[in-house]
Amino acid sequence: MHSFGYRLNALFTFAVTILGFICAIASFTDTLNSPSPSVQVQVLNVNWFQKQPNGNDEVYLTLNISADLQTLFTWNTKQVFAFLAAEYETPKHPLNQISLWDAIIPTKEHAKFTIHTSNKYRFVDQGSNLRGKEFNLTLHWHVMPKTGKMFADKLVLPGYRLPAQYR
Ligand SMILES: *[C@@H]1O[C@H](CO)[C@@H](O)[C@H](O)[C@H]1NC(C)=O
Ligand SMILES: *[C@@H]1O[C@H](CO)[C@@H](O)[C@H](O)[C@H]1NC(C)=O
Repeated sequence: MHSFGYRLNALFTFAVTILGFICAIASFTDTLNSPSPSVQVQVLNVNWFQKQPNGNDEVYLTLNISADLQTLFTWNTKQVFAFLAAEYETPKHPLNQISLWDAIIPTKEHAKFTIHTSNKYRFVDQGSNLRGKEFNLTLHWHVMPKTGKMFADKLVLPGYRLPAQYR
């Protein structure tokens, strides 16, 4: 005769095994999903562009960010963290990366959006390198799954340029 406790234990083990199996399937089907996100960003305005008393350049922009990240979402997606970074080269550093805006996208329904915003974080160069500077705007994202590994990717929008003069 099996005791009640034994049967409960067996049931529990079975449940955990099934759960593990479902998790494995979930993260596997995620790897089969090949997302095709898209993003467009316009710099609508350079609100101001100055050299600070400490010698660092700072620019304040108005952006129009339009993105469709819906294909990043599968039934195994918990949320997506996205951030838009200005990326540029200086004599000292081949890659300077400054986050201008970010968001946590909780659902697929929220993953297609257009926002009109000024930079949420300060766009300051540790030096005086921004006049006439060419830069990329890169949308980075981290997909946090309900189960399995997090993954990250990005889309690079090249070819932006800051004004040649402070204003
Ligand atoms: C922002 O971008 C979207 C998509 O490119 C466009 O439809 C919209 O008119 C733009 N908004 C402004 C204020 O330029
Ligand atoms: C900007 O984008 C271009 C084209 O993708 C790339 O060649 C270049 O290295 C990028 N610049 C930086 C600083 O990441």
